[in-house]
Amino acid sequence: MQKVFTIFIICLLLQACNSKNERNDVENSNELVMYEPSEMTILMRKIHEVNKIVKDQIIKNDSLLIFPEDFTKIFSATLTDSTERDDEFIILARSFIDLQKITFSTYSDSTVYNFNQSINNCVECHRTRCPGPIPEIKKLLIN
Ligand code: HEC
Repeated sequence: MQKVFTIFIICLLLQACNSKNERNDVENSNELVMYEPSEMTILMRKIHEVNKIVKDQIIKNDSLLIFPEDFTKIFSATLTDSTERDDEFIILARSFIDLQKITFSTYSDSTVYNFNQSINNCVECHRTRCPGPIPEIKKLLIN
């Protein structure tokens, strides 16, 4: 049981924005600090899971999920650090949402291109604000 719990914690930390530092923190202390994920963190986890599904659907040529309207909460969800929602964040978020909207639901000649462009927006926004998950995000790109 404890092993399962430890693996769970490690998985959470791998996803976290500054995965390296946080892992060291755990190694250096016997205490586990439980933290309350922000609204944005919870939204991002959903965005990540949904995009894994959509990538799979695109590759298999299955019908595509309908765009989940709650993705637009990216403009309002509370951030761990509220100063991260600067002008650049808003521009990247707008571009991300627009590209995801045109990718989801129906295929076009540009589906793979639009999907990949939207994932590039994820990476671009994460580069300065939350680099930890970038390797995982890049796995969403369709080659
Ligand atoms: C416009 C900026 C922006 C875009 C676009 C964006 N993110 Fe994020 N993401 C953030 C920020 C900022 C955080 C940190 C949230 C916080 O700590 O409150 C975050 C957090 C995360 C996390 C960490 C959640 C955790 O468990 O700690 C994951 C995973 C993630 N994003 C995945 C993605 C994926 C996948 C995409 C695209 C499909 C994406 N993000 C698009 C800004 C963005």
